[in-house]
Amino acid sequence: MEVVIVPDGAELGKLVAAVIAGLVRRRPDATLGVATGSTPLPVYDVLGSMVAAGRLSMHGCRVFLLDEYIGLPAGHPQSYRAVVEREVVRRLDLPSSSVLGPDVSAPDLIAACADYERLIQRSGGIDLQLLGIGADGHIGFNEPCSSLGSRTRVKTLTPRTRADNARFFDDPADVPQHVITQGVATILEARHLVLLAVGAGKADAVANAVEGPLSSFVPASAIQLHPHATVVVDEAAAGGLQLADYFRSTYTAKPSWQSL
Ligand code: F6R
Repeated sequence: MEVVIVPDGAELGKLVAAVIAGLVRRRPDATLGVATGSTPLPVYDVLGSMVAAGRLSMHGCRVFLLDEYIGLPAGHPQSYRAVVEREVVRRLDLPSSSVLGPDVSAPDLIAACADYERLIQRSGGIDLQLLGIGADGHIGFNEPCSSLGSRTRVKTLTPRTRADNARFFDDPADVPQHVITQGVATILEARHLVLLAVGAGKADAVANAVEGPLSSFVPASAIQLHPHATVVVDEAAAGGLQLADYFRSTYTAKPSWQSL
């Protein structure tokens, strides 16, 4: 695992956008796993500017949702499909058909989860998966005590996650209780994991994920099992890391030929 500590969210956006742009230039038909929430927005901003300036084309890419709420009316502005349409598809000039996600309106949600797993596999898997992290250590919506072997399935959000996400809704009671999320084991199959965090509110979760024991109580700790995981955090989110100085010096001394 590589941990990169940047001054703030804007620098995080530039660094991670450069990693994604590098992947897309090497592999124009790359598959990207995208997270919603606030943290990845600077990444989408920078990528959007590159596309607008004609420095990058993402037209051949496919985008996979990490998770989706169950029970919102179709087209609801806070459904993750709608968020990804707004924040990713339009800004990156991607065709809408390039966005793939679980079918939360299917009458058989268990079958819809299995279908989504198959869709990811048939597409050749995900090249780069962006991840945020919940204050409770969730990745995707794998809440504490999610099996580290879990696959895409229906989960119930914790009251804390619902409260954290209430800022996106007019009424906190409107935050759905249920979601479909890629499982922890599904996420671990992506070829490169890039976990992002900003702000002091994420410091404990980041420290537990990076330096704590591997535990389903902190699902994000599962990234310790991945052969290519990059954690990009701002100074505030790095506040709980015992090895912060080591991570800083490692990054400063990184050979120029070695990419993230
Ligand atoms: C969203 C997702 C969640 C968020 C996490 C952090 O698709 O999977 O795990 O990444 O809740 O959210 P923010 O970035 O809003 O703090």
